[in-house]
Amino acid sequence: MRGLRTMLAATAALLLAGAAAAQPTVKIGLIIPMTGPFQATGREIEAAVKLYMAQHGDTVAGDKVEVILRDDAGVPDTTKRLAQELVVRDKVNILAGFGLTPLAMAVAPIATEAKIPEVLMVAATSVITQQSPYIVRPAQVLTQTSAAIADWAAQNGIKKVVTVVSDYAPGYDAEKWFTQRFKEGGGQVLESLRVPLANPDFAPFLQRARDAAPDALFVFVPAGVGAIFAKQFVERGLDKSGIRLIATGDVTDDYILNGMGDAMLGVITAGAYSAAHPSDTNRKFVAAFEAANPGMRPNFIAVFGYDGMDLIYRALDKTKGDTDGTKLVEAMKGLSWESPRGPMMIDPETRDVVHNIYISKVERVNGELYNVEFATIPMMKDPAKVTAKP
Ligand code: PHB
Repeated sequence: MRGLRTMLAATAALLLAGAAAAQPTVKIGLIIPMTGPFQATGREIEAAVKLYMAQHGDTVAGDKVEVILRDDAGVPDTTKRLAQELVVRDKVNILAGFGLTPLAMAVAPIATEAKIPEVLMVAATSVITQQSPYIVRPAQVLTQTSAAIADWAAQNGIKKVVTVVSDYAPGYDAEKWFTQRFKEGGGQVLESLRVPLANPDFAPFLQRARDAAPDALFVFVPAGVGAIFAKQFVERGLDKSGIRLIATGDVTDDYILNGMGDAMLGVITAGAYSAAHPSDTNRKFVAAFEAANPGMRPNFIAVFGYDGMDLIYRALDKTKGDTDGTKLVEAMKGLSWESPRGPMMIDPETRDVVHNIYISKVERVNGELYNVEFATIPMMKDPAKVTAKP
């Protein structure tokens, strides 16, 4: 009897100690490609998430923040399986990351069923946010940058263009929105070429583009792939052909730009972020990122990962630590803040990002290649979601 009583007392003491120590936890399942052809995307996001937490702490509104990182190697079936496991077994409150559109799409039904936010840190096809009311995108939309560079080209003496895009959903957005806006501005698209996403060989497409003799080539490839494109562009002699290169900012992303070489000098892009963005917030961000990751420059994906964490922390602040998924999504709607990219907002109607799109030129600055911004389209919405005026 005495033994039993002692045991019960000990158990009660343990339970009490447990209760006192237990702090509510918010679990974030971060699914990104850490291996495979898109591993640079994963590395940039992981570094940015770590930096954000080092700067802002691992507690928000009384909740302890726990990030559970999973590598999907960029394979949609794996993304889906990992998301299911994170929801069912690890009981995550939020899913985040997703290095490509098909990976984000694969998780949409899981977010809807689990009623938890799916925070897009990369995937940029316009329709993704319509696949689930739980999807929120602090990244970018391809329609924004493609429309912006089309307007710039039409207004700057470019009359004939060949488009070259990766053959998957964001490429179709880029092709469609570039073509539509360029035509509206009086331009002509001579050919629309689509290059396989996996192991791309640009050579035959570049030859066709050259034969069409346009004023410019418009290019979209996802982050990282621009390095392969630039190499083949130079090998084919297109840098000396008099055909100008215009692109979405994905092509000259800051992670690879320096390695792309001087052939990229003068390339004009439309993008949401440049490591050379001249603001105090960005200068501090770049300095801290480079100090924590020697030899690595933050690109737009790093900023979208950082802002994804900022969005989550701000939403938790707003719900006062309530981790209910529906409340978190509601809290995310309409949030606005100053990011390293500049001002940004989550459109309360579409859950999509509203931010500046910058027109930039590749220049050499202090011995390194940068996208130097020279014009701004302020607080641009996804043009595909702006309802036409009657
Ligand atoms: C996408 O798959 O949606 C995607 C990935 C990387 C980019 C742009 C779009 O740079």
